[in-house]
Amino acid sequence: MTTKQNNSIENQLVDRFGRRVEYVRLSVTDRCDFRCVYCMAEEMQFLPRSEVLSLEEIYSVARAFVELGVNKIRLTGGEPLVRKGILTLVEQLGQLPVELLITTNGSQLPGMATELKRLGVDRLNISLDSLQEDKFKRLTRTGRLSQVLEGIDAAIEAGFERIKLNAVVLKGRNDDEVLDLIAFARNKGLDITFIEEMPLGAITEHDRAEMYCSSDELFEKISPVYPLLESVDKTGGPSRYYRMADSHSKIGFISPHSHNFCSECNRVRMTVEGRLLLCLGNEHSMDLRQVLRDHPGETEVLKQHLIKAMDLKPEEHHFDLNDETPQVVRFMNMTGG
Ligand code: GTP
Ligand code: 5AD
Ligand code: SF4
Repeated sequence: MTTKQNNSIENQLVDRFGRRVEYVRLSVTDRCDFRCVYCMAEEMQFLPRSEVLSLEEIYSVARAFVELGVNKIRLTGGEPLVRKGILTLVEQLGQLPVELLITTNGSQLPGMATELKRLGVDRLNISLDSLQEDKFKRLTRTGRLSQVLEGIDAAIEAGFERIKLNAVVLKGRNDDEVLDLIAFARNKGLDITFIEEMPLGAITEHDRAEMYCSSDELFEKISPVYPLLESVDKTGGPSRYYRMADSHSKIGFISPHSHNFCSECNRVRMTVEGRLLLCLGNEHSMDLRQVLRDHPGETEVLKQHLIKAMDLKPEEHHFDLNDETPQVVRFMNMTGG
């Protein structure tokens, strides 16, 4: 448990449905060194620099959220660790009274894990969809498995605890590796979450509906080998966690299709353009870049906007894998999940 809790500040971020927002996910770049098939198109146009928030602007949004009672900040991307100067931002955020987390593809961890730990990052989530080099390559297009495995070891070595692996499971692509991934996680003392693919952005590489693999299906596959016990652990997020009697590793399922978790949602996210998105599965948003650039340094104005934005948070998301024109046009690399 972290000691950096924001308990002294009363939370002022409540939406129309009475949900309290305590957790902010900040995308620090839309760029990535991988091109995962479920996340991006092969050829991507990334944002021009002028449209991207500076690290100082991102920090001022984070600080305003903390002053309004947020107690958890997660940096996402794209791949957050490829953003130039990221360690400077991490150092500043590491001094705020919040839990600081990063979701990463792991590629930069061999050189950065120790420094991230020193600067105050509390936990890491690392994507790992396959343990087979050729399959890993096909799923990430440009990723190298050995580099990510090295990154995971570097994170363990640096002393990170409760590292969580994320695997997006696609039928016929990596669903046969679920047990191997669990064995790997158990062996290294890590948690692992299996994720159903979400229809964010239009891709042509595969048919999302055809490759849909439900968490229930995985549960059936896993339980005869590793009996799963209900766990009370909750992150206020989409994951449902299970324990195993003979291991400290937890197994999570993120099932935006088969299990709706919106009523407990405690989070908002900001894209690197400064668009505050109130829900991952909807386009409801507020343009914070405009606010930041019209009122530089005016924290109170920013805070008033954040409070106001809560009214825009929709009740729930509706994902439809069969819909050829997805409801959400942005790719996952714009929001980092
Ligand atoms: P914590 O809840 O902070 O432990 O982590 P997490 O598992 O939510 O975060 P992570 O960055 O590891 O994301 C894992 C998956 O959860 C990604 O596929 C995200 O897109 C997905 N996810 C995170 N938040 C939401 C959400 O609010 N709605 C939906 N549908 N998916 C989400
Ligand atoms: N559906 C579900 N998860 C996705 N991720 C990226 N794109 C998608 C998608 N379309 C996952 C990544 C990473 C996390 C941030 O989001 O694998 O673990
Ligand atoms: Fe990069 Fe993560 Fe998207 Fe893969 S899922 S392309 S690692 S941002």
